Amino acid sequence: MKSLAVLAVYLIGSSRQAAVSSRQANNANLPPLKFNADGKFQITIFSDMHFGMYSWLPRGQKEDKKTTKVMNDILDYERPDLVVMNGDLINGDGTFAHNSTHYIDQIVKPMVDRKLTWASTYGNHDHQLNLPAKGVFEREHLWPGSRTRRMVPGLAAGVSNYYLPVYPATCDPEKDGDKCAPELLLWFFDSRGGYYHSSVEKTRTPQPNWVDASVVEWFRKTNAELKCRYRKIIPSLAFSHIPINATDAVQKHWDPRRHPGINDEVGVAMQGQGWCPEGKHDWPRCKYGGQDVPFMQALSKTKGMMGLFYGHDHGNTWCYKWNGDIAGMPVPGNGMNLCFGQHTGYGGYGDWIRGARELVISQDKLKDRVFESHMRLESGEVVGSITLNATYNHDIYPATPNQKTYL
Ligand SMILES: *[C@@H]1O[C@H](CO)[C@@H](O)[C@H](O)[C@H]1NC(C)=O
Ligand SMILES: *[C@@H]1O[C@H](CO)[C@@H](O)[C@H](O)[C@H]1NC(C)=O
Ligand SMILES: *[C@@H]1O[C@H](CO)[C@@H](O)[C@H](O)[C@H]1NC(C)=O
Repeated sequence: MKSLAVLAVYLIGSSRQAAVSSRQANNANLPPLKFNADGKFQITIFSDMHFGMYSWLPRGQKEDKKTTKVMNDILDYERPDLVVMNGDLINGDGTFAHNSTHYIDQIVKPMVDRKLTWASTYGNHDHQLNLPAKGVFEREHLWPGSRTRRMVPGLAAGVSNYYLPVYPATCDPEKDGDKCAPELLLWFFDSRGGYYHSSVEKTRTPQPNWVDASVVEWFRKTNAELKCRYRKIIPSLAFSHIPINATDAVQKHWDPRRHPGINDEVGVAMQGQGWCPEGKHDWPRCKYGGQDVPFMQALSKTKGMMGLFYGHDHGNTWCYKWNGDIAGMPVPGNGMNLCFGQHTGYGGYGDWIRGARELVISQDKLKDRVFESHMRLESGEVVGSITLNATYNHDIYPATPNQKTYL
């Protein structure tokens, strides 16, 4: 009997080991992302979950189960093909070094339970003295379904810089090679910020809060290579946690019926905020240092770029089409849409109703660079349904009610 019990323990132990290692191996072999047979591809964007807030706060980590419920409910309503977690997954300024990345296990569970696949960008709260974004990345890959990659080397680049191709339903890049060209490219950028991890700097040293020049260069080069390889411009979407300065410029033209959404935070917290033009962090003396200009230029010069999605400001949820010259902006827009998400977490500041931005992309509308979006709220309600087409900014929609949900 005793030896059987020992054997049982041994078997349970080893199957657990096997589960962990096969999980790690699986993500390299995830099937390519594809449009469905009906020509649609849907993305759910979760923003600013802020798991692991200081446990002594009213908004502490005991509230995280509410965030999990928001995620579970939204995934059941929407059944997306891909989930994007657009930064501030963990509130790393309040977590302990010994287990700061472990919150990922709870964060990815709604997707793992449904065998869904996801892709992350990291936010300023994922880059902290006690929380290395690199560790968040490694923890994600203990679970089956993470497509988060790291394509740009070097400390300055941050971690979550990569792209994902989405192929048509009718071909398979693994069998058909380059004859199966992507229909859509998804680009992910690490806007960094927060603080360097203690393995880099022992004291809390601010980390630049913009997409690094090395990443902009990689984006330009890789995009040009893809255009050459497939002999076409591939429509694309981009994700980055912190908004760009153009968002601050277009906010002055926000109209509740043309840009449905909440607009409670006037003065966007943007890349380069708190940094002086010469590169020193000095808040509040330096409001904005202009370090995101190369990123904005690269985006606005990218043919086929249809939208940039960010979080960071929990009280803003609108989209604006950045077209032509905007007063005061040195970089003209190319018609790409600049969109906030919806605050998903019960962690993080603000009581605006929790939810997610949904992107519904139809293959047949991509030639016109058109796609659809709406917000799915924790109440189950859908608000802010828009068509991001040539006349967005001019079309009239119902204004989004400014709802709140408290703890
Ligand atoms: C991390 O450890 C602390 C205690 O040191 C505990 O309160 C917290 O719940 C732990 N978090 C996770 C995700 O394991
Ligand atoms: C940033 O946006 C403001 C408008 O909010 C604009 O006046 C300024 O010129 C912009 N700066 C850069 C470098 O884009
Ligand atoms: C864009 O979409 C809106 C809403 O569906 C519609 O009213 C408008 O006519 C469309 N514009 C174009 C150019 O198709």
